[in-house]
Amino acid sequence: MTDTDAVILVGGLGTRLRPLTLSAPKPMLPTAGVPFLTHLVTRLRDAGVTHVVLGTSYRAEVFEEYFGDGSELGVELEYVVETEALGTGGGIRNVADTLRGDTTLVLNGDNLVGVDLAVLLAEHRERDADVTLTLTRVEDPRAFGCVPTDPDGRVTAFLEKSPEPVTDQINAGLYVFRRSVIDTIPAGRPVSVERETFPGLLAAGAAVYGHVHGGYWRDFGTPADFVAGSCDLVLGRAPSPAVAAPGESLVLPGAQVDAAASLTLGTTVGRDAVVAGGAEVAGSVVFDGAVVAAGAVVRRSVVGAGARIGADAVLEDVVVGDRATVGARVELLGGARVWPDAVLADGSIRFSTDG
Ligand code: GTP
Repeated sequence: MTDTDAVILVGGLGTRLRPLTLSAPKPMLPTAGVPFLTHLVTRLRDAGVTHVVLGTSYRAEVFEEYFGDGSELGVELEYVVETEALGTGGGIRNVADTLRGDTTLVLNGDNLVGVDLAVLLAEHRERDADVTLTLTRVEDPRAFGCVPTDPDGRVTAFLEKSPEPVTDQINAGLYVFRRSVIDTIPAGRPVSVERETFPGLLAAGAAVYGHVHGGYWRDFGTPADFVAGSCDLVLGRAPSPAVAAPGESLVLPGAQVDAAASLTLGTTVGRDAVVAGGAEVAGSVVFDGAVVAAGAVVRRSVVGAGARIGADAVLEDVVVGDRATVGARVELLGGARVWPDAVLADGSIRFSTDG
């Protein structure tokens, strides 16, 4: 599809996922055994969109070091670095010179949307839209800005969070732009596409449409969503050409998992990691080189690279930073985060942010 370029915004700090994002930018965090970005790029490739531009800022060098020119994934990758973060709209504007076609797909680098990209692009063209936003329906829209549409699919407003939302449709973080519209975004200063560009286009009478997508959608921006999303990928509930054989768990090369350990609910065990006998790892992500000792229980949690979880420790809904040590029998529950290299001594400490 030579008339369509893709831009993936990957420049954010990923503060909600700290401390994992202290060592790697969010789109590079391993999900189902590969950097999250791999799932997005392979989906684009399979839809025939092979010129992909990454708008980078935070830890910009890491992306090119890993992906190079993109040829291993069957795409042509370009990188455009913001020396000062320009926000989502500024990030799109900043890559304008690299765009070749008259249609641009824009993806948030932390959202996975199962929308059929060919159908989305065809609808955008048929409507002769300036911008088409993919919208998803959520059960509780109060925590999100809402995007109502009229019966023809035209966006009627961009509404802030409200205790009484008028629709359950929210922005899914994947857009199609008419190429020329990107030039109208102010250059050289931070711009939010959600708060400034979209409302501005609507106010100016531009043809802004919504494409409501009823399939898979998740924002991988919080620890709970990151873990759940990684498990969705392993289990085959989330669409990705980069997951060859969905299953109950994914064990990467070099990992040692004792026959008497249990790995369930989409758990990934990273390269050279160790899970000892009697350990139970459910719905979790164990990064490369981490160790889960005998009898430990790890549920809905992330164990950072090289971290060590002691015997009979219990972790639920927590994030353990890289190389941290959680001692034997320690209980960590409900949203606790252990910083990289921290050491929690053996003992029956119980720590929960829920009180
Ligand atoms: P939090 O700090 O946890 O909110 O995460 P974030 O920094 O990733 O912000 P957010 O989730 O709102 O960003 C949505 C997408 O836009 C992510 O893929 C970010 O990488 C990307 N993004 C956010 N800010 C910028 C920016 O200034 N420049 C570029 N190029 N991308 C950005």
